[in-house]
Amino acid sequence: MTSPYKSIVILTGAGISAESGIPTFRAADGLWENHAIEEVATPEGFQNNPVLVHQFYNQRRRDLLHPDVKPNSAHSELARLEHQLESLSNTRFMLITQNIDNLHERAGSRKLIHMHGELLKMRCRETGLIFDIRQDLTLDHICRCCRQPGNLRPHVVWFGEIPLAMNQIEQALMACDFFAAIGTSGNVYPAAGFNQLAKRYGARTVELNLESTGSSFDEHHYGKASETVPALVNEILKNL
Ligand code: APR
Repeated sequence: MTSPYKSIVILTGAGISAESGIPTFRAADGLWENHAIEEVATPEGFQNNPVLVHQFYNQRRRDLLHPDVKPNSAHSELARLEHQLESLSNTRFMLITQNIDNLHERAGSRKLIHMHGELLKMRCRETGLIFDIRQDLTLDHICRCCRQPGNLRPHVVWFGEIPLAMNQIEQALMACDFFAAIGTSGNVYPAAGFNQLAKRYGARTVELNLESTGSSFDEHHYGKASETVPALVNEILKNL
């Protein structure tokens, strides 16, 4: 089968998980409502008040693990896109998410990069080793590798830290001929510059969002991700 694209890269942000019950960052009911970003999402914030930072991410983790929080049709359609492309075409596919939730993998996505880390992982500050965590994390938690309390931190990328897998991401952006950004405000770099990089190397660029973000893309599809993503996936797959 032939696909109209050689390589597809999709970037997702908090908007794709909004309909699953996880508040976005910059909405009025947003994640940061009661906390300044510097308090809970910077290395300095963690140094100043690790108890508060642990409490903050513990609450996010409990929210994510609530039985009502499930992937929505936008997550599952992206998983279907990946699997269909893999079985029916030679098109390369990469899904990059800024989200720290696990809704893409729960929907079945496999070729996934969590560029801002993962809420259900913790990392040893001594060794850099990464472990799964589903319960609360506290300063008393003894690390499995260094056997010390207080060395574990959430495996999330804070402001001032370098996002994960950037080399791999940049290579994919320069090689892709289709790039879509879904449910992201385009406020936080480097992700906010991915569309420009992909476009410079010749990709068709598409934004899917509830509303205009003012970012420059070839096309804008406005509406809820649960409606615009299935339509986009159908459009790509019907040409296979
Ligand atoms: N469907 C589509 N888009 C939506 C929906 C929806 N149902 N609901 C909200 N949106 C859009 C909003 O219009 C907004 O543009 O999703 C975007 C969410 O933007 P942000 O809250 O800024 O989230 P994001 O862009 O993912 O933030 C990037 O900033 O705080 C840091 O590290 C954190 O990964 C995060 C990064």
